Amino acid sequence: MRTRLTHLLNIQYPIIQAPMGPISIPPLVAAVSNAGGLGILAAGHFTPVEVREDIRQVRALTSRPFGVALTAGIPGYEKLAEVMIEEKVPLIVHGRGNPRWLIESSRGQGVLIMAQIGALKHALRAEEDGVDIVCVAGHEAGGHVSPVSTLVLTPLVAGKVKIPVVAAGGFCDGRGLVAALAFGAEGIALGTRFAASRESGMPDSVKRRYVEASESDTLVTSSITGKGLRVIRNAYINKLESNNKGSSGWLQRVSSTLEMRRQLDISWWRFIAGGWRMKKDYEASVSELGQLATGALIIDKAAKHGDTVNGAMIAGQVCARIEDIPPAGEIVRQIASQAQSLMGLLDNRLRAQPADEVAQQVPSEGKVEVKKRRYRPRRRSPRGKQQDRPQHSNP
Ligand SMILES: Cc1cc2nc3c(=O)[nH]c(=O)nc-3n(C[C@H](O)[C@H](O)[C@H](O)COP(=O)(O)O)c2cc1C
Repeated sequence: MRTRLTHLLNIQYPIIQAPMGPISIPPLVAAVSNAGGLGILAAGHFTPVEVREDIRQVRALTSRPFGVALTAGIPGYEKLAEVMIEEKVPLIVHGRGNPRWLIESSRGQGVLIMAQIGALKHALRAEEDGVDIVCVAGHEAGGHVSPVSTLVLTPLVAGKVKIPVVAAGGFCDGRGLVAALAFGAEGIALGTRFAASRESGMPDSVKRRYVEASESDTLVTSSITGKGLRVIRNAYINKLESNNKGSSGWLQRVSSTLEMRRQLDISWWRFIAGGWRMKKDYEASVSELGQLATGALIIDKAAKHGDTVNGAMIAGQVCARIEDIPPAGEIVRQIASQAQSLMGLLDNRLRAQPADEVAQQVPSEGKVEVKKRRYRPRRRSPRGKQQDRPQHSNP
């Protein structure tokens, strides 16, 4: 299965495991890449030293291409980017903000850049800035969501940019891949499906919630990070939503901010500078920055500690279609083989259908006539000319 994306990334199938905070860990990334897709490591929650270690761990597990994700505006952004460039990772996935600095810094280093976007104007700007690929994530997606659905956003962007488009949000199988290709995308990126795989770093308790969840169990809330985040509903989210506060107090905001700085091991100066940039990139107020930090800890409660009651379980609507927790490589192979057989089936069905319809109408004239008439569009005849055309009686 070859598209411009598979050529560019040198992968077998146009199937990408989307970046996911602390859970797209080296074993998951390597499992997806080893199966012929492309795994992506998430760097946002780690220090430069940890990211370098993770990149090397992925390399120890696979010789295939992989990616690393970087979110604009996070404290330590430049240092993290430098590590990725030094390590010559095949793909950097740039989330939010302007990727120009990254593009300049990685020029000539053999690193491809994919921008994650949620609106057409961002895709156009990313293309103009010089990124190699855009990944569009629609409203169905897990994590921070676009107001626009994947169904609308994908063909909209694919029709306007020249670089390859990857569709994300709502995919879990081969049907989705075929649909995305039909919409003009060159591949798909899946988050929730891979979060519920054997190698994902998500605790088992949350993986089980993915399997149990129905299509009405997720909601988009701005209470966690200040921006619309799709999560699975639970008691804590319900409480936050009903309070409509977005955080449980000033004290928690301050202590979370301090905790995040400690975790990142960066100087106060860099932290404030990073916070200032984050404020611009996220268009967030200073108090919202505290909320972002607090939100990160609430997300970690689920993603690191498996707390399904008081943690925020990030998930896409597609969790309604997830029924098992298979190895990630099996997910890649199943999507690819289902898509391949589906394309064959669709082709047969589309070819067969008009012929069958006409054959029913002209049983006496045989298939030769049917073939000749198959794709000819019907023209409206002027009044009185109808009798000149051959008349067929219905059986
Ligand atoms: C558990 C989880 C964590 C995620 N964490 C991040 C993240 O840290 N950064 C990011 O840019 N996107 C994150 N996402 C969003 C994914 O990269 C991707 O856009 C989304 O999952 C696609 O939609 P889907 O879940 O329907 O496949 C996360 C998604 C999930 C499910």
